[in-house]
Amino acid sequence: MKIGDLIDGEYLTDEILIIAHALKKTKAWVLSNLDKEISEDVYREISRKISLRKSGYPLQYILGVKEFMGMEFTVRDGVFIPRYETETLVEIALDYIRSKNIKTVAEIGVGSGVISISLAKFAGVRVFGSDINEKAILLSKENAKKLGVFQLVTFSRGEFLEPFEDFFGEIELVISNPPYVETNFNIPVEVKYEPIEAVFSGSDGMDFIREYFKRYKRKWDTFMEFSGSEHSKEIVRSLCRDVKFFRDLDNVERFFFCPSK
Ligand SMILES: C[S@@+](CC[C@H](N)C(=O)[O-])C[C@H]1O[C@@H](n2cnc3c(N)ncnc32)[C@H](O)[C@@H]1O
Repeated sequence: MKIGDLIDGEYLTDEILIIAHALKKTKAWVLSNLDKEISEDVYREISRKISLRKSGYPLQYILGVKEFMGMEFTVRDGVFIPRYETETLVEIALDYIRSKNIKTVAEIGVGSGVISISLAKFAGVRVFGSDINEKAILLSKENAKKLGVFQLVTFSRGEFLEPFEDFFGEIELVISNPPYVETNFNIPVEVKYEPIEAVFSGSDGMDFIREYFKRYKRKWDTFMEFSGSEHSKEIVRSLCRDVKFFRDLDNVERFFFCPSK
């Protein structure tokens, strides 16, 4: 069985990536070794992964990794796959943290831990991170260990900031990339494999954000990612008087900052 027999070109880039990852080689190596023979077992395993991909299953779950802020995070079925737009949220927050000399941050909805771990890694801040999904908490801890910031982060299962009530006085900044898709939105097939609670947030996608602003009497400076639609901006303006919007690399106002006072 030859490497080239695994490729039919339907998902060319992903096929090559899956082969390269399975054989622990570069994409260039794969492309220049299409005639190379591989064992039947290896062939069957790679072929299974390529079929999975063709059924719509996300590439990142197949590879088990996703690059974020130059670091390689482990990703796993059952936990949201980080998106590249969120790197801009992290960069904006890092600037703010440095300019205000912030020492303690809380993140709501850590997923694989990308935001918390990046803030701990690049700004040296202490981070408290919550998620309602136990798999996300376990994966975030695993990623924090792998990326060398375990001593700076505390990940706990629970909604919003509930697990960190004892630290409310210490938290100087809240950050979140919450679920913000409308429940009726027709999501791409790949997204259907991701946990539903990571994606949808009520009929207009704003339930999480409304609840965050309602839930706590105490307010914190807050950075959030959201859909950036006109409707969602209207709602954010009604929840936060001095809100400031920030654009992503596609020029969509995808993030907002709400000052605590
Ligand atoms: C869009 S994902 C973001 C994950 C990660 N921060 C990232 O940017 O890749 C949203 C995450 O929020 C979690 N979540 C949803 N509602 C929550 C709530 N009320 N409290 C805490 N976490 C919540 C989901 O389980 C999911 O992991």
